Amino acid sequence: MAQRMEIKPAEGKLGVLLPGLGAVSTTFIAGAMRIRKGLSKPYGSVSQMQTIRLGGRDEKRYPLIKDFVPLADVKDIEFAAWDIFKDNAYEAAMKAKVLDKRDLEDVRREMENIKPMKAVFDKSFVKNLDGTHVKKGKTKWNLAEQVREDIRKFREEKKLARIVTVWCGSTEIHTEKQPVHDTIESFEKGLKENSKHISPSMIYAYASIMEGVPYANGAPHLTTDIPALEELAIKKGVPISGKDFKTGQTLMKTVIAPGLKARMLGVKGWFSTNILGNRDGLVLDDPGSFRSKEISKKSALEFIFQPEMYPDLYKNVYHKVRINYYPPKGDDKEGWDNIDIFGWLGYPMQIKINFLCKDSILAAPIVLDLALFMDLAQRAGLKGIQEWLSFYYKAPMHSPEVYPEHDLFIQHTKLKNTLRYMMGEEFITHLGLKYYGVKE
Ligand SMILES: NC(=O)c1ccc[n+]([C@@H]2O[C@H](COP(=O)([O-])OP(=O)(O)OC[C@H]3O[C@@H](n4cnc5c(N)ncnc54)[C@H](O)[C@@H]3O)[C@@H](O)[C@H]2O)c1
Repeated sequence: MAQRMEIKPAEGKLGVLLPGLGAVSTTFIAGAMRIRKGLSKPYGSVSQMQTIRLGGRDEKRYPLIKDFVPLADVKDIEFAAWDIFKDNAYEAAMKAKVLDKRDLEDVRREMENIKPMKAVFDKSFVKNLDGTHVKKGKTKWNLAEQVREDIRKFREEKKLARIVTVWCGSTEIHTEKQPVHDTIESFEKGLKENSKHISPSMIYAYASIMEGVPYANGAPHLTTDIPALEELAIKKGVPISGKDFKTGQTLMKTVIAPGLKARMLGVKGWFSTNILGNRDGLVLDDPGSFRSKEISKKSALEFIFQPEMYPDLYKNVYHKVRINYYPPKGDDKEGWDNIDIFGWLGYPMQIKINFLCKDSILAAPIVLDLALFMDLAQRAGLKGIQEWLSFYYKAPMHSPEVYPEHDLFIQHTKLKNTLRYMMGEEFITHLGLKYYGVKE
């Protein structure tokens, strides 16, 4: 049995900082506020609703995760956000049109009090938006200083014990790692010299890490997955995780693909298309932002199927992903998947999926879980990449020594085993021979 990690208690208030006060953020905030008033249940949240088995099945120990590990209470959360528009959280939620007005009315006053701070914005990274509520600064260094000041003010004004940042802003264009991203020194020099390779999201991440605040990246663009910020996170003892919340279509992909592979069924092609009409859809209508999303959505299948190990089954899977902006759909995304599979003797079969999901309804509980688990990780002394939170991401950050784990079921086991490890409980092997007279 592992030794229980030393975990600082979840005392005091936890601040959750959200760059981006759009559909996902406001759905998360309104939901958390309703939950703590006892008006709604935290459906979709593993941290709040799931149990964890401890020891053998005969021991009958199944506590709720939130009773097993020392998590912050949803009642102890304070929210703050940055956005390029001035709308308060209530107004932004009304515009996002995810939640019904009647669900928002119960928490209207608290939501109106959440007024976004001015954002760090650069249109060259998000082509389809024009910000009006934006910070001014001669250098990116100066902008980072302003974000740090915002974080410190939030901490003082709300008397917070700890803070976590979860990026819920728009998807930035696809960019590749550059030499300026290599070390802390080159990155800080780049901030001072206004390097065009430093994005707004990197400025928020840098500021958060410098303030000792964990940073989770809900979008697919390059942010903390650069050596400079990974090194800074380790140096400052700050957990980071990412990237791109695993919600609708990719969630289904990482459920179905492991199932096909477990049964050694082959795949010839997987065509995925979506229509959505929210602001996220508008941003993704730009090819640069779509490219970030496409890469993150496409990576899952390759890693799950392992074509190099199973060439007969998965060598030439034709995988295509499309997202189309279609305003009438709003946040009610519709996704279609056509999967061409083959089985015994190579006989072809097809699977068709039509998923009518609500993007932000799937993303909101992920924001809650990430905020609570990132805070837990920091109190447990974990720092740098938190691969055990891969469960929540489409393109999980990982050590360069290993490939990322995409299979939802392995990710789930990893998450729960990490919690067991933290608390000094034995891992579940599912061997179970002892119930049949075999000595284990
Ligand atoms: N299921 C999902 O909804 C889902 C899944 C995976 C990833 N994501 C990602 O989460 C993010 C949020 O999604 P959403 O549906 O809430 O989008 P949204 O467009 O409703 O909200 C994003 C908000 O970010 C703001 N913004 C843009 N640039 C900013 C900046 N530099 N600083 C501060 N604010 C900024 C925008 O004004 C907008 O209000 C997107 O990147 C999206 O791709 C969402």
